[in-house]
Amino acid sequence: MPSFGLLFYCLTFLTYFSVDSRSAVGHLRNIDSLIRAVEQVEDSNPGLSPLALIRALRRIAGHDDAMTVHFLGTSHLFDTAGLETAILNTSSFSFFDKALHHIVTDNGEEREGQGLDDFTEKISPKRRQLSRLILEPRDLQNEVMEILALVWKLERTEWIAFDTGISHSVKEGLKEFVHKYWECPQIIPRCQWGAKPHNGTPLPLSLPLDHLFVHHTYTPSAPCLTFSDCARDMRAMQRFHQDERGWRDIGYSFVVGSDGYVYEGAGWNTVGTHTRGQNSIGYGVSFIGNYTALLPSRHSMDLLRHQLVQCAVGGGRLVSNFTLKGHRQMVNYTTCPGDALFSEITKWDNFRQ
Ligand SMILES: *[C@@H]1O[C@H](CO)[C@@H](O)[C@H](O)[C@H]1NC(C)=O
Ligand SMILES: *[C@@H]1O[C@H](CO)[C@@H](O)[C@H](O)[C@H]1NC(C)=O
Ligand SMILES: *[C@@H]1O[C@H](CO)[C@@H](O)[C@H](O)[C@H]1NC(C)=O
Ligand SMILES: *[C@@H]1O[C@H](CO)[C@@H](O)[C@H](O)[C@H]1NC(C)=O
Repeated sequence: MPSFGLLFYCLTFLTYFSVDSRSAVGHLRNIDSLIRAVEQVEDSNPGLSPLALIRALRRIAGHDDAMTVHFLGTSHLFDTAGLETAILNTSSFSFFDKALHHIVTDNGEEREGQGLDDFTEKISPKRRQLSRLILEPRDLQNEVMEILALVWKLERTEWIAFDTGISHSVKEGLKEFVHKYWECPQIIPRCQWGAKPHNGTPLPLSLPLDHLFVHHTYTPSAPCLTFSDCARDMRAMQRFHQDERGWRDIGYSFVVGSDGYVYEGAGWNTVGTHTRGQNSIGYGVSFIGNYTALLPSRHSMDLLRHQLVQCAVGGGRLVSNFTLKGHRQMVNYTTCPGDALFSEITKWDNFRQ
């Protein structure tokens, strides 16, 4: 899998030449805010090596893929936790918050958004759809190979072309790219919302699973509309589950915010604590809010119903004829996921009594 980072680079290159110059202005605005943020982190961490900062940024951005690890070294060997906290401290580093709630208006202007339904058409998940529209009709395998040939020519390393394994790696890498960026919604990784480590040894799930259990959090009872509010709710739930309940981790596999994003909980590969007696046969996905009388936003529901489900099935984590159920169908002591949401999910594909 050495090609993933390189592919990302090539596809960025392709998109760069496909988009008109209007976007250059917004690009600079974002780079300015990144530079300011990096300066702040450097000022508050005297003696910080540039490589340590890059490694920590890379981990937070969720780009610890094989190619970057190959060239920059693994970040797991270094204790970057303190640095990551400093980077994510929103009072000193608002860049991620800005980047996550970045809107491109119909006039091509960029500004920050709130993650409300009116806006979600324009925040960054929309960019995945746009890049898909641009890239899907093209012969990517061919174009990536052509760009590689150009890079090798410029760097006078044309001999690399004799390695016949490269074409195969590009093909595999493209498959991974399509899955991660087209089939899956953007999932905010644990390090981005400031998760504490899992307590003890994580129990691995045996994939694919055949159940998906839908929950609501009940408390927090208000839907979260911004990245900082959703991330704070995630940290509060993890604290409650670990410290008060004595669980290993935040109980849910994934959590859906009303800010346009899915948040990683126990994740795809680890047994969660969400549905008594059933944790090893299914994923537990919770909507932040109290959905007894109201429904989550249409956009949040679509994130689970269509996007996360497609990602789970496409990635071989959930069988295609999986069973979807509400938490209340599995145990007799809860009305979770709330009357309104439960009645809604009975109309979804794969719901079974
Ligand atoms: C975040 O930064 C502020 C100001 O620099 C500081 O007072 C605060 O303690 C920091 N919080 C964390 C969690 O590091
Ligand atoms: C949840 O919503 C129901 C219906 O509106 C309400 O009766 C209940 O008090 C709410 N619970 C919390 C914790 O907000
Ligand atoms: C799902 O498909 C598998 C294989 O085709 C089958 O054995 C299983 O019974 C199906 N499960 C359900 C719930 O339909
Ligand atoms: C809930 O179900 C359990 C096991 O199925 C049963 O032992 C218990 O009596 C039930 N409790 C109530 C309140 O129905």
